[in-house]
Amino acid sequence: MIDLRSDTLTRPTPGMKKAMMEAEVGDDVFGEDPSINALESLAAGIFGREASLFCPSGTMTNQIAIKVHTQPGDEVICSDLAHVYIYEGGGMAFNSGCQARPVQGDLGRITASQVEQVINPPDDHKARTALVCLENTANRGGGSCYDLQEIIRIRALCQKKGIRLHLDGARLFNALAATGQTARQFGGLFDSISLCLSKGLGCPVGSLLIGDRDLIREARRVRKKFGGGMRQAGFLAAAGTYALNHHVDRLVEDHEHARLIAAALAKKSFVSNLFPVQTNILIFSVTGSWNPETFAVQLKQQGIIVMPISPTQVRIVTHLDISPAMVDQVCACIEGLKD
Ligand SMILES: Cc1ncc(COP(=O)(O)O)c(C=O)c1O
Repeated sequence: MIDLRSDTLTRPTPGMKKAMMEAEVGDDVFGEDPSINALESLAAGIFGREASLFCPSGTMTNQIAIKVHTQPGDEVICSDLAHVYIYEGGGMAFNSGCQARPVQGDLGRITASQVEQVINPPDDHKARTALVCLENTANRGGGSCYDLQEIIRIRALCQKKGIRLHLDGARLFNALAATGQTARQFGGLFDSISLCLSKGLGCPVGSLLIGDRDLIREARRVRKKFGGGMRQAGFLAAAGTYALNHHVDRLVEDHEHARLIAAALAKKSFVSNLFPVQTNILIFSVTGSWNPETFAVQLKQQGIIVMPISPTQVRIVTHLDISPAMVDQVCACIEGLKD
């Protein structure tokens, strides 16, 4: 099967498996796993920051960040399409006692002036605005990327108002590959960055929370409380180090594959509202002679799995396990569908 539902579906490559099997490990709750320590300092260095923390998932790194940046009763500004708002099980309320202030952005991206309009004044009736969360790339925005100047404006506003800024960078390396922006530019703009290893980078497990030493020390305490302290997890961290060394430069191939599939879709009259394809995620509407379900069933009969994500929309995600030959097959299949 050619599985295009998500970039989380990848399996470790032979090189990654070898690195995992050969990893030197220790007890990370004691701070003694050399492979985890190596990954954490590698990632911090890439972003020009002091420290990072290896965690089981991107949900956990986001939730830890929200916990360390807020107090119960605080408000968190984010896009109405943000993963922290719609896909983390109400975690910011459950774990941190916070409420979201969702803002309707453009393909999951919000602006400094939108943020400014929803920052609460110091009024006892109002929740304290404590945190702004951005997502880059924005998953539900079709893998859209932020303009760096907008982030710089949001950063300046947050600094002026004493509000923390967190980045859900689950697919940040996709954004960097697509825009030419650098990890250090992002490292200098956020109080914390969550980076997933288990998406475009192809690891079986793992995310990193990146920030300054004091924040990461506190994050380590919260990770323990959330049950995320792992022991000989260096086997997993070794996959992360391998991915940072071998799977970053190739992300442009996934983006090219997404563009090829988009071109095939664009020729079909039943496809509309295809979001601009900047990275590895395609979101589009299926109407007319097909609907998302019938479209997905038809493709499945030809060995291709896609994901209906709403009554009108389908999502396709390219990734490490999708080869150029598979992309050709997908394009031919789409082109063969009757209009
Ligand atoms: C933008 C974004 N943030 C966070 C996550 C959470 O990652 P995990 O599945 O590792 O919890 C995802 C997962 O798809 C995501 O797309």
